Amino acid sequence: MNSLTIIGVLLYIKCCSAANILGIFPTPSYSHQKPMLALSHALAKKGHNLTVITANPSQGQSQLTENFNQNKLKLQIKEEPMKNHRDIDISYGYKEWQRVQAMNHISLQVRISPSKIIGDMYHYTDFFTSLVFGSPNVQELMRELNGTKIDLILYESLYYSSLLGFKEITGDPPVVGLLSLHPFMLSDLPQGNPMFPSYVPFSFLPSSDKMTFWERLFNLYLTIYSHYITEYYLKPIQENYLRKYFGNVKYTAEALEYNKSLLIISADFATSYPRPMQPNTVYVGPMHIIKPKPLPVNLQKWMDEAEDGIIYFSLGSNMKGTSVPEEKRAAFIEAFKKFPKTRVLWKWEADIELPGKPENVLLRKWFPQQSILAHPKLRLFISQVGVQSFEEATFYGIPVLAIPMFADQDFHARKIVESGAGLKLEFDDITFENVYDRLKALLTNPNYKENMMRLSSITKDKPMSPVDTAVWWVEYVLRHKGASHLRPAVLDLPWYQYFMIDIFIFILTILFVIIYLLNFIYTKTIKTNINSKYYKHKKDE
Ligand SMILES: *[C@@H]1O[C@H](CO)[C@@H](O)[C@H](O)[C@H]1NC(C)=O
Ligand SMILES: *[C@@H]1O[C@H](CO)[C@@H](O)[C@H](O)[C@H]1NC(C)=O
Ligand SMILES: *[C@@H]1O[C@H](CO)[C@@H](O)[C@H](O)[C@H]1NC(C)=O
Repeated sequence: MNSLTIIGVLLYIKCCSAANILGIFPTPSYSHQKPMLALSHALAKKGHNLTVITANPSQGQSQLTENFNQNKLKLQIKEEPMKNHRDIDISYGYKEWQRVQAMNHISLQVRISPSKIIGDMYHYTDFFTSLVFGSPNVQELMRELNGTKIDLILYESLYYSSLLGFKEITGDPPVVGLLSLHPFMLSDLPQGNPMFPSYVPFSFLPSSDKMTFWERLFNLYLTIYSHYITEYYLKPIQENYLRKYFGNVKYTAEALEYNKSLLIISADFATSYPRPMQPNTVYVGPMHIIKPKPLPVNLQKWMDEAEDGIIYFSLGSNMKGTSVPEEKRAAFIEAFKKFPKTRVLWKWEADIELPGKPENVLLRKWFPQQSILAHPKLRLFISQVGVQSFEEATFYGIPVLAIPMFADQDFHARKIVESGAGLKLEFDDITFENVYDRLKALLTNPNYKENMMRLSSITKDKPMSPVDTAVWWVEYVLRHKGASHLRPAVLDLPWYQYFMIDIFIFILTILFVIIYLLNFIYTKTIKTNINSKYYKHKKDE
């Protein structure tokens, strides 16, 4: 190393080693929190000073109830709290969210259509925003940070725009958006990403990028409908919150949302389809995938002893095993009995035993999912295919039997079937025959495994790990004090200029004038000339 390099390294360390970063991660869902926390912890490990509003604090002051699954998941990432990673605890949001779901009979354990999810979206963001502002911890943080200087804000980019009021009271730092899902309208719009309903499927649809006429029609409808919901519901709600909690600030909530330096997406194209993106949007890959921790000894032993592989059956954190109706449960039990040499790990969130449980099935309320999927004997994952589960199955190369319920799960199920990396089963079609046929196909036909391994090698083939890539981009924004050079001008264009309406009107006007003039000249000169000649001729006859 020559002295210049050393100076360079020193300058580099000096430049970014002590940045004050504020993280705003509102959604009380472990699958949303996991990738974002992976990034904030990595930044803290690099020496940055992090203050993070999160529903999954690592040194949680709040008491979550025992039977609450997210709490148990939290144990998995229980790391030593870092001195320079301060958590502002909003984990009470989990309990509140459950309470509100129960009160309003909202169930995430039934089939929900894309239109319904989009139509209800503003209720969700409204409620989650109110949870953040309603937290005494956040109120106190607002007082504490008011007038201080923050160098950068990390922000979950799901239209919680009012929370960007923090930008206004902390010296206008650049904002980096984070997204734990495949991008869709709420995150595409503020980055200026093109949404072409002709070949970019809305990520809540069971469509691929090659759509039929009816799929394109529905895709267009969802795109327009979600614009409408955003414009007339989401935006005003966020504007109200901004005024209510931050007073008379300079920018509107919309301007804050549309002024992010960068959007980092915790996903890649192994689990979606190619599509155009502005340079202010980067896919880094699934950030939440960690080196799997060793399995508990007895579980490891049980898995090692499986004669003919293992099936892992978990419908994610929203769906409880007990909420699968009895006849559907029986369908699985009977089907598992037909594969006595294959062992089954069944995530079963209830204190009661499963009646008629076969010998080869092991029930647990919770499993360390990544360590399970990494086990060499694991052959099949029966999943609701939320994005994180799909990404983990892909990373570890495990074929999937997808049972999608709502939001992006249908999109993932379609991608899995499309790639030949698994099969789909409609929740309503769960019968013994349907389950058995699919299990048999998935366990005997080697193509599914091969195709999933192909996706696996795609997702693993990156110059840097997803978290390291994201850290690099965050420091890039820090080094350049924002990234306005990546901001596409489309964000400032009125819609009629974007669609070139003014230009087309201009061209049409000119064409019209030319045609009119030509017609005028024709009738006035040539035509009269011919006519007069003709009449003259007639007269002469
Ligand atoms: C870290 O950030 C917190 C909150 O913004 C601040 O109070 C503290 O002084 C910062 N520490 C350093 C070393 O900058
Ligand atoms: C956008 O953010 C930058 C800092 O990243 C700030 O200097 C600028 O004033 C902001 N503009 C708007 C319109 O919010
Ligand atoms: C920040 O402080 C200023 C003046 O000290 C005050 O007017 C403003 O209301 C405070 N903002 C918040 C969000 O607390």
